[in-house]
Amino acid sequence: MAHLLLVESWVGAMGTLLPRAVAELGAEFTFLTRRPEHYPQSAPDGLPHPLRLGRGVVTAETNDPATALAAARTLHADTPIDGVLTSCDYYLPLAARIAAELGLPGPTPAAVVAACNKALTRAALDRCDVPGPRHVTVPADDQQRLRTGAEMVGFPLVLKPTDLCAGMFVRRVEDWAALDTAARDLLRFEVNARGQRREPVVLLEEFLEGPEFSVESWIRDGEVHTVGVTDKSLGGASGFVETGHMFPADVGDQDHARLVAAAEAAIRAVGLDHGVVHTELRLTAAGPRIIEINPRPAGNQITELIRHVTGIDLPRIAVELALGREPALPTVPNGQRGGSRALSAAVSMLVPARAGILTGIEGTEAVAADPAVIAATFKAPGHRTTVGVDNNSYLGSVIALSHEQSGARRLAEGLLSAVSARYEEPAP
Ligand SMILES: Nc1ncnc2c1ncn2[C@@H]1O[C@H](COP(=O)(O)OP(=O)(O)O)[C@@H](O)[C@H]1O
Ligand SMILES: [Mg+2]
Repeated sequence: MAHLLLVESWVGAMGTLLPRAVAELGAEFTFLTRRPEHYPQSAPDGLPHPLRLGRGVVTAETNDPATALAAARTLHADTPIDGVLTSCDYYLPLAARIAAELGLPGPTPAAVVAACNKALTRAALDRCDVPGPRHVTVPADDQQRLRTGAEMVGFPLVLKPTDLCAGMFVRRVEDWAALDTAARDLLRFEVNARGQRREPVVLLEEFLEGPEFSVESWIRDGEVHTVGVTDKSLGGASGFVETGHMFPADVGDQDHARLVAAAEAAIRAVGLDHGVVHTELRLTAAGPRIIEINPRPAGNQITELIRHVTGIDLPRIAVELALGREPALPTVPNGQRGGSRALSAAVSMLVPARAGILTGIEGTEAVAADPAVIAATFKAPGHRTTVGVDNNSYLGSVIALSHEQSGARRLAEGLLSAVSARYEEPAP
């Protein structure tokens, strides 16, 4: 039986989808983590959580690459490892490095490092003349360089960390005062959710105007294969919270081709040569512009949308590639509903309009019962919400399938509009 090393994981959707793919391929995994207690014991249905279904758990300090590598070598000597992977962005460079050191299939580690750090990504794209926004990386606590950087980029601009994800601390700023506040907020967030010390720098980027998309690809032997283009709805307090996605994107053939070409050029520019990649772009008046490159399957259920429309399961491809196998692509889409296949699939997220403690979410039964819905999950009463400033604040989501090209977004958004969150009112 093929044996994978799973290096940490997200606890959201991908924490279930990757272990499921491993099981479906008849393989098994050992889970390497610094804190087993970070992960749930059981799934919402009460059964053991898929992350608990591996052949074992190895506890080692994954924030120290040498310690993690030593633990992987010890395991490998005892139970040979055939492939290494993770779903968690903060451990993508480590997973690539372990694979390389053990002589297993995987991407070039330096390429993963470049893709996972937004400043290095911009530098790699510039070197290869992939067009992008004006940008500069400066120390977050250096007022003078922040000011000169902002003058060079021009307002409005986007301030963002180089090493976070889920839209955390990404802000559009209109003037110096807002820039100063955003930089100070980011500076105070010194350690990420996995206990890793952050880089005390900020990336300032020209604000790219235009609709946003992502291109989903996989790479084997350096050859890039693109599965399709997803479109993205944005909202929330920052304007950058992902409020929904639809696959395939509602975009004309010509723009589709331009988006794919831009994403593939960016993938080559950072040197990614193996694995699944999710590239985010905006389609500006001047053409597609890269937002970021993620060397892992798309999150936020996008891979499920694609699976329902095309039958292609990107987490499964990620596992196959990690094992050095040629992905087995389906010939018949599995989005079979009412006898005909779904032509589009969309996910819509419920984003809190305010902070507080949930007393309940009304209207969820009707959503779950709708024949177009294939998955609907919502937070339970007692959940403490923050204001919706990033993708970590969702109160729930619904996935709908449609038999119409581009019909699914309307369905999913319509269903969620009938749902409302109720909050505990503060004591008078
Ligand atoms: N230069 C930019 N111009 C316009 N919007 C941007 C820019 N950079 C980021 N954004 C917006 O912020 C969101 C989050 O930024 P991103 O770079 O993808 O960080 P994260 O890794 O947190 O997802 C993007 O999806 C996009 O909507
Ligand atoms: Mg992003």
